[in-house]
Amino acid sequence: MTEDFDVRLVEDVKTYTPDPQYRKNAWMGDYQKAYDEFLADPDAFWEKMAKELDWISPWDKVKEWNYPYAKWFTGAKLNITANCLDRHVNDTRRNKVALIWRGEGGRERIFTYQKLLSQVARFANALRKIGVKKGDTVCIYMPLVPEQLIAMLACARIGAVHSVVFGGFGAAALNMRITDADAKVVITADITIRRGKAIQLKAIVDEAIINASTVEHVVVLRRREPHVDLHENELDFYEMMDGMSDVCPPEVMDAEDPFFILYTSGSTGKPKGIVHTCGGYMVGTYYTSKYIFDIKDNDTFWCTADPGWITGHSYIVYGPLAVGATVFISELTPDYPDAGSYWNLIEEQKITIFYTAPTAIRMFMKMGESWPDKYDLSSLRIIGSVGEPLNPEAFEWYYRVIGKSRTPILDTWWQTETGMHMITTMIGEPMRPGFAGKPIPGVEADVVDKDGNSVKPGTGGLLVIKSPWPAMLRTVYKDDERYRKYWETISGVYTVGDLAVKGKDGYIMILGRSDDIIIVAGHNIGTAEVESALVSHHAVAEAAVIGKPDVMKGNSIKAFVILRVGNNPSDRLKQDLMHHVRTTLGPIAIPHEIDFVDKLPKTRSGKIMRRVLKAQEMGIDPGDVSTLEE
Ligand code: PRX
Repeated sequence: MTEDFDVRLVEDVKTYTPDPQYRKNAWMGDYQKAYDEFLADPDAFWEKMAKELDWISPWDKVKEWNYPYAKWFTGAKLNITANCLDRHVNDTRRNKVALIWRGEGGRERIFTYQKLLSQVARFANALRKIGVKKGDTVCIYMPLVPEQLIAMLACARIGAVHSVVFGGFGAAALNMRITDADAKVVITADITIRRGKAIQLKAIVDEAIINASTVEHVVVLRRREPHVDLHENELDFYEMMDGMSDVCPPEVMDAEDPFFILYTSGSTGKPKGIVHTCGGYMVGTYYTSKYIFDIKDNDTFWCTADPGWITGHSYIVYGPLAVGATVFISELTPDYPDAGSYWNLIEEQKITIFYTAPTAIRMFMKMGESWPDKYDLSSLRIIGSVGEPLNPEAFEWYYRVIGKSRTPILDTWWQTETGMHMITTMIGEPMRPGFAGKPIPGVEADVVDKDGNSVKPGTGGLLVIKSPWPAMLRTVYKDDERYRKYWETISGVYTVGDLAVKGKDGYIMILGRSDDIIIVAGHNIGTAEVESALVSHHAVAEAAVIGKPDVMKGNSIKAFVILRVGNNPSDRLKQDLMHHVRTTLGPIAIPHEIDFVDKLPKTRSGKIMRRVLKAQEMGIDPGDVSTLEE
């Protein structure tokens, strides 16, 4: 593990202390005081947060912890959309801008809270009309357009469980997610637009629903003129809304009713359907949006993720809208129409809180600071990062060039499973490049050895969460055993799957995954998923995949492939294999290097030892190889 990690180096890093005004004006105020209050009475802490929101009826108990199962706000009734929409419309925010979208060619769309509510209500009524009921699953596979958020909120309105699939996934990945979740309806669009080009999204859905017997309807947002033809059982997004009332009473949801499923990669070939529930997720994302991002009424908040990832669920849609923020979204990429695209949007929209990923920051660094320097970024007051470790060089650059050595950086550590931020350096607190920070009030985290003993400061180990939190996953869909594994790998605590170092003063440095998950440009990809995609190619007998450190993407994927008899290694075959992975899993999972080999290192029981391949590749000691077969 990490016993030989040289922590002295990282302890020597510079500390940056933000202007005291930040702490003084923050919703949270003093971190230590808030943390101590939480520790003194965790349930009272969460109850206070929950009371800031509207409930149809209150809870009997804040928490029921029956290890490894937790229930939060038991017996309470609510609907999250009543908090994300109606609460603001009935208040002073009726005409406040809820959502601003920017597309290519200067296209802009703006929704006030009132308008967003009426669109959501009409689409929710339309879904009800085609037979979608509370508890049904709806798959949403869409580009980053307002209708994607409207579809999610409409499902939430009527209690349908959404499973949003990122629009960059390929047909096989989408098919697996549709069939595993028994989706009754798939909502998609004809095209997604990237860098001036139209990508046919609907064609991928057509392929993905072959053999998906549960799908009754496909709803299509037709963006292109003239409209593409619809087939039997296909409905047009806006025609469905024609004549629908803009009043739609919210479904009464129990706090523990399933809210959504979101698939994430695991260490087997089959992604895990992470299940979140209504009440706890609402409280967790509301709390962190308000108190961690410190969103105020005059902020314009831009999270550059896609709602197809948990970052988008929690910090584009549900958290910021529950707070009543103005949310900005854009279909533009950071390098199109030119490398100033994002800085131009920050200047144009006067973005105040900007939340992005280290891989994007490293790309901005490569493109050069002359790009951001052309724009006025003075509206920014907080800048954030998520998805993988923010290395010190990227931190320094982000802080100096984008934050003008003034705005705090929120490096937020969390996961699809946690639903909400867990570890960060709260605004106003001293920032230490390389360290994400401390557990936020509401979260108890530690770094432990494999037996669960807390490690000494300055030492590495496994990151764990020591007690339940409201927005935690409740189960893995149809696979509760995989859920229990999180809490049973080390008895009594939630094992995250990341390696970390405990620094001085309780700051935590996240090193990366400890399992067979590779984080490529901030996206989780299971080695087993890529391996099974490769093996599904007719020329491949066996494959092993590793992550290789990459300056830009954090990691890149390298594959070792054994060919079936009768197939010969060639560059053409490599290209063919890359294309095959692209069409099955999507572009994010393409191996950037493929080696054809005759043998793979295996244990005597036949398990591929990826660790040995990785050590060989990087020219380092493979460690214990006593289980390696001859
Ligand atoms: O390894 C950690 C890394 O991303 C993993 C979770 O991935 P996912 O479920 O896709 O959610 C990503 C967005 C919340 C974690 O186990 N990770 C996430 N944030 C950070 C991070 N690693 C280091 N620093 C972070 N701030």
